[in-house]
Amino acid sequence: MTAEFRWTRKDLLSLYDLSAEEITYILDTAEEFKKVSERNVKKVPALRGKTVVNFFVEPSTRTRVSFELAEQRLSADIVNMTASTSSLTKGESLLDTVRNIEALQVDLLVMRHRATGAQNFIAQNVSCGVINAGDGAHSHPTQALLDMFTIREKKGRIKGLKVAIIGDILHSRVARSNMWGLLKLGADVVFAGPATLVPREFEEAGVKVCHRLEEALEGADVVNLLRIQHERQSAGFFPSINEYSRFFGINQENIKRLKPDTLIMHPGPINRDVELDSSVADGPNSVILEQVTNGLAVRMAVLFLVAGCGGKR
Ligand code: CP
Repeated sequence: MTAEFRWTRKDLLSLYDLSAEEITYILDTAEEFKKVSERNVKKVPALRGKTVVNFFVEPSTRTRVSFELAEQRLSADIVNMTASTSSLTKGESLLDTVRNIEALQVDLLVMRHRATGAQNFIAQNVSCGVINAGDGAHSHPTQALLDMFTIREKKGRIKGLKVAIIGDILHSRVARSNMWGLLKLGADVVFAGPATLVPREFEEAGVKVCHRLEEALEGADVVNLLRIQHERQSAGFFPSINEYSRFFGINQENIKRLKPDTLIMHPGPINRDVELDSSVADGPNSVILEQVTNGLAVRMAVLFLVAGCGGKR
């Protein structure tokens, strides 16, 4: 990274928009912020005087808690909002809701929404900074950044690694965001799962698509499992959970195909013994809880950089 590099974006919406240089700059900044959480006093004044609103219109554990902790560790003033207790329930539009929040001189809005593109739409219509905490099946940039941070920390690089992402790719914002970020940093990305959940169209973006688990695991440096979404089951994407688990679940038997130092990752929440056997999720190759720890550092970095742009156009 060149010393002259300057972050210039008021929003973080998607890794699709970012250059390799910008992604690397976030990861480098997160490395510095990780040290803050390892100190006795886990707080710095970087966002003192800034106000952040966390607006989660979809459920979340990891993302919501780590954004809030990240903001506290940066000394920001914080307001947490949920859809169910907001005037969205009275029929107020999303844009009106956010414009009213902005009228309170808020600097940053961290938002999760079930609709693809909701944060892009809001960012175009407000002057405060907008950070995407997950929109529909489209984008979850801070999840992919924390995944890449964890890979780089453990392996010392990303370029040239084989990263297999296995599961419900079709409905996964985590898979898309990882794909955009990892390809930009030079990884070989493989998507694997049933053909109904891993369409060949992804090959156009530069990933390898396969429908046999053995092919995905062969030579993999990283295996990132995605949650099988029980709610999709009624749509008939695969015959049964048992069937999925038998062909694509990671267990003690099929991890014998992996190299001894292959990382096992999962964004959470895990369906234990469906996509990932408990003994593997909690086993020596798993870095799942380290991903969560690193999420805090990555979110501190993103908040710091976006707020540093004034959070204003
Ligand atoms: N990985 C992730 O986004 O988890 P949450 O839905 O709990 O935030």
